[in-house]
Amino acid sequence: MAHLAHDPHKRPDRLTAADLAPLAPLTMEVRDGALFVGGVSLVELAQREGTALYVMDEEHIRVQLRRYRSAFADAPSGIGVVYAGKAFIARALCDLLAEEDCLLDVSSGGELFVALAAGFDPGRVVVHGNNKTPRELAEAIEAGVGRVVVDSLEELELLSSLAVKFGAVQPVFLRIKPGIVADTHEYVQTGAEDSKFGFGLADGAALEAVLRARELAGVQLKGLHVHIGSQIFSLDPYRRVLEVMAGFMAELRDAHGVVFEDFDLGGGLGIAYGLDDAPSSIEDFARVVSEALRENCAAHGLAVPRLLVEPGRSVAAVAGVALYTVGCVKVLEGVRTYVAVDGGMSDNIRTVLYGAHYEALVASRADEPRDAIVTIVGKHCESGDVLIVDASLQAPTPGDIVCVLGTGAYCRSMASNYNMQPRPAVVFVRDGTARTVLRRETYSDLLACDVL
Ligand code: LLP
Repeated sequence: MAHLAHDPHKRPDRLTAADLAPLAPLTMEVRDGALFVGGVSLVELAQREGTALYVMDEEHIRVQLRRYRSAFADAPSGIGVVYAGKAFIARALCDLLAEEDCLLDVSSGGELFVALAAGFDPGRVVVHGNNKTPRELAEAIEAGVGRVVVDSLEELELLSSLAVKFGAVQPVFLRIKPGIVADTHEYVQTGAEDSKFGFGLADGAALEAVLRARELAGVQLKGLHVHIGSQIFSLDPYRRVLEVMAGFMAELRDAHGVVFEDFDLGGGLGIAYGLDDAPSSIEDFARVVSEALRENCAAHGLAVPRLLVEPGRSVAAVAGVALYTVGCVKVLEGVRTYVAVDGGMSDNIRTVLYGAHYEALVASRADEPRDAIVTIVGKHCESGDVLIVDASLQAPTPGDIVCVLGTGAYCRSMASNYNMQPRPAVVFVRDGTARTVLRRETYSDLLACDVL
């Protein structure tokens, strides 16, 4: 695990909360040295709710969604901002999406179930998955979801027969692999030809799927979908996608008379987990994509389809922080200092899985310089259970509350009960008030599925 390697020469960066503002929720501030988000003291929240705890800045999420909507406001044929629920989902989040006039991408029957339980309009749901089960497809059709993004020929046939059985006509997209490799971790690249997702362009699978979808009863082909990966900084691959896909759409129109209403570009815009990270802004993303769509459609004389984008991380990640209480501090002279907290790989698997990097602060002393280098580890029974290797941090002592930034996406949603660890609560904060949107799991929850 090279990415977990410790650098014995690393020096503390002596930064304070103010320096880390670009990585923090919009409403994060320091009052008398202590961190507040949404007008709520993180230390008090940790004392009241217990740790580990996820805290999400509701205002930050809303602002990001609004930025997407307004940045694309003059997209040639309208915009659908489809939040990717896999980043983080709860009923409260679905309510917020409805209030912000956004759509929702679900990647499983479970996510669809949560959306429906929230009363989210099924017509505004886009259903994803590379291997949806017959049950998931039936549930989607029965719910009347807006779009099913079909990933394989088997799925297309199955969806068609189920829709016919239910007397429905299901609007669909086809997921296309454009053969474009984005510069990101290989686990989250999805646009290359060697990918389990979607229909390849180069091998003719995409064309075959389009033609088959047009023949089949029970499905109505509304458009094409592409998602090239996640945590992408450069906008060039998106430009390239629009070039390639406009070419394919023109080919389909010329040879087969197929014209699409929508084009779904997927998600993937990256965020800064560290101060050296330089992702593109939502505004630049929107400008580049809208221009590329307009230009490439014009070049082929295509009517511009409605554009959909599916951001997850860039909406939710920076909105969230994770709070932990420091347990033991082990100073291994000449080796390193281990700071163990009351969570770990069960609530944030990203460091271990992708070599992800996070920044942290001691919540009660956030305006003091981070003058120690420590490795923040969890409470799980393996050495790989690391949250941050060589973190700069205000020298922590047992009982301190450590606040890890950038944890609003793909942390709670990827959390597990490893070592029978109950999953932490999620609290939304706004205007000085905190509301629990997912309560902490209890020991009884751990027995909920245990059958004697
Ligand atoms: N649309 C589709 C079809 C996707 O598969 C994804 C993410 C998104 C949209 C949203 O992508 P975003 O804007 O969040 O990058 N667990 C990984 C990320 C996996 C992303 C999976 N698909 C991580 O923690 O980095």
